[in-house]
Amino acid sequence: MDRVMRVGSLVSFLLCIASFTVSLCKGDLYVPCKEHERQALLLFKKDLDDPSNMLSSWGGASDCCNWISLEGEIPNSLGNLCKLTAIDLSSNNFLGRVSAIFKSHLSNQLESFKNLRYLYLSNNSISGLVPVSLGNLSLLEELAIDNNSFEGVISEVHFTNLTRLINFFANENSLTLKTSPDWLPPFQLSILTLSSLHLDPSKLPAWLKSQKHLSTLNMSNTGISGTIPIWFWNIYSNGAYFVDLSRNQLSGEVPNIVSANWPKQQRFDPQVSGILIDLRSNQFNGSLPLVSSAVSTLDLSNSSFSGTLSHLLCDRSDVPKNLLVLHLGNNLLTGEIPDCRLHWPNLIVVNLEDNNLMGKIPSSIRDLLSLRSLHLRNNKLSGELPVSLQNCEQLLLLDLGGNKVAGSFPIWFGQSLVVLSLRSNQFHGAIPYKLCSLTNLQILDLAHNNISGTIPRCFQNLSSMANTFSSEGLTSIQFLDASFSVLVFLGSPTQRLQFL
Ligand SMILES: *[C@@H]1O[C@H](CO)[C@@H](O)[C@H](O)[C@H]1NC(C)=O
Ligand SMILES: *[C@@H]1O[C@H](CO)[C@@H](O)[C@H](O)[C@H]1NC(C)=O
Ligand SMILES: *[C@@H]1O[C@H](CO)[C@@H](O)[C@H](O)[C@H]1NC(C)=O
Ligand SMILES: *[C@@H]1O[C@H](CO)[C@@H](O)[C@H](O)[C@H]1NC(C)=O
Ligand SMILES: *[C@@H]1O[C@H](CO)[C@@H](O)[C@H](O)[C@H]1NC(C)=O
Ligand SMILES: *[C@@H]1O[C@H](CO)[C@@H](O)[C@H](O)[C@H]1NC(C)=O
Ligand SMILES: *[C@@H]1O[C@H](CO)[C@@H](O)[C@H](O)[C@H]1NC(C)=O
Ligand SMILES: *[C@@H]1O[C@H](CO)[C@@H](O)[C@H](O)[C@H]1NC(C)=O
Ligand SMILES: *[C@@H]1O[C@H](CO)[C@@H](O)[C@H](O)[C@H]1NC(C)=O
Repeated sequence: MDRVMRVGSLVSFLLCIASFTVSLCKGDLYVPCKEHERQALLLFKKDLDDPSNMLSSWGGASDCCNWISLEGEIPNSLGNLCKLTAIDLSSNNFLGRVSAIFKSHLSNQLESFKNLRYLYLSNNSISGLVPVSLGNLSLLEELAIDNNSFEGVISEVHFTNLTRLINFFANENSLTLKTSPDWLPPFQLSILTLSSLHLDPSKLPAWLKSQKHLSTLNMSNTGISGTIPIWFWNIYSNGAYFVDLSRNQLSGEVPNIVSANWPKQQRFDPQVSGILIDLRSNQFNGSLPLVSSAVSTLDLSNSSFSGTLSHLLCDRSDVPKNLLVLHLGNNLLTGEIPDCRLHWPNLIVVNLEDNNLMGKIPSSIRDLLSLRSLHLRNNKLSGELPVSLQNCEQLLLLDLGGNKVAGSFPIWFGQSLVVLSLRSNQFHGAIPYKLCSLTNLQILDLAHNNISGTIPRCFQNLSSMANTFSSEGLTSIQFLDASFSVLVFLGSPTQRLQFL
């Protein structure tokens, strides 16, 4: 077994040492370190690459607390390894195998580390297996191994005695989390992030049912499939506010999402503006669920939801909703966009692109006073643009491409508009000079309409920032950072009319 934990450069070496956050030797700092602590430090030193001999003082007969203080940056208290409660080695450039850390340090010296409460190894390049001895760190409350190259399997044995574990971050590793269907974990987690891990069996783990205090769950891209059992949806009523099940093969219908008594007073984080539900890129079907008014982000895009929008948009339309982001793009939604009162005062992003919506864009759109980004491309919308859209004074992006919206070019757009795509519709007539007053405009796409007349001279001014830019960018823009250049598309999709 490779025991060498090499640290690339002197800089990262120092960083590594300095970030040995040692919170908490509650013991008397002036008591000399004990022999086994001294041995632990020597072992640690042995596995470090120390070309500049920074650790030359480590050794000899002197008090090992002084070895460390010689470094100047590290608290003396590191010497009291027996009291060590936190190790933070995150965001370093550890190359090597974690078994080197654990096998040659932690497991051999388990007595020395048994008080460990926080272990942060995030953002490194640690490879190898996660040692089962982890399961013996019975005081561990937070474990962060996310964004490493751990491989192999973690299973129930890794958690044997982790009764106090609250937060477990494991995103972005080549790990498989294998659990038996009847496993009852010893812990109650608050945060669980497993994104990009492989789950075995590849379905939503049954043991999640035992977790009554989850606030954050990230199981994005874990390869899970099948339907979501009905008990799962209690997660919101139990206080969860951040649930990401995106990029899986989950199927079936999604029930209405309630969140009784949310936020749960005790654990509410004031930074959290509301509940996030990210179910995008799955194979859910059936009609859209109703969601609690505490939801701030709802992403159900890229699935197979069908039916109309009226239930979701018009239900209890007298009650203000907290939603900021609504993404329903790339589904099988049909019918009209209902013209009910839209009591969504904070809604910033509405994305309904790539559905089969038809009829007019309702004039109730005026209710969306915070709207910045409206994506309606690739539907079957018709009629004229409602003049009431000018009420949406904060609108930055309007993408209507690929519909059947008709009428003359609207001239009443707000000054804020940065991206305007009306391409592939049935607008007709001349391009109004008024467009030139949209001084913030950076992308204007009017291709594939029935435009006639001349291109207004003032376009010279608009295109003064013209630069190269690919139209691909248009599909992904949600929030704009104003770093795009002016582009005017009037020609065919492939051929960009070059100005001047
Ligand atoms: C890991 O890296 C990401 C991206 O650089 C950063 O946002 C995050 O805070 C890092 N995590 C830790 C625990 O250092
Ligand atoms: C993973 O860690 C690397 C190196 O620290 C960092 O550059 C990267 O942003 C991190 N990725 C994530 C998703 O946190
Ligand atoms: C955990 O601790 C027990 C008792 O000290 C010991 O028998 C066992 O070998 C340890 N397990 C691991 C994986 O280190
Ligand atoms: C598990 O932890 C308890 C105390 O929290 C301890 O008594 C027991 O020995 C531990 N078992 C192992 C295997 O470490
Ligand atoms: C879930 O984790 C992945 C990978 O770290 C990250 O890209 C994604 O943004 C997380 N989900 C949410 C909703 O933050
Ligand atoms: C949509 O979901 C499919 C799998 O269901 C995935 O392959 C594709 O990349 C997703 N598209 C987007 C734009 O996320
Ligand atoms: C959803 O898909 C399942 C098969 O995955 C099918 O049995 C069910 O009838 C579908 N439901 C709806 C409403 O389309
Ligand atoms: C285009 O507009 C002209 C009038 O400007 C009209 O005569 C013609 O029928 C329109 N063509 C289509 C396909 O709408
Ligand atoms: C272009 O801008 C200049 C000054 O910024 C202004 O004087 C001129 O009238 C504008 N041209 C047109 C055609 O609007």
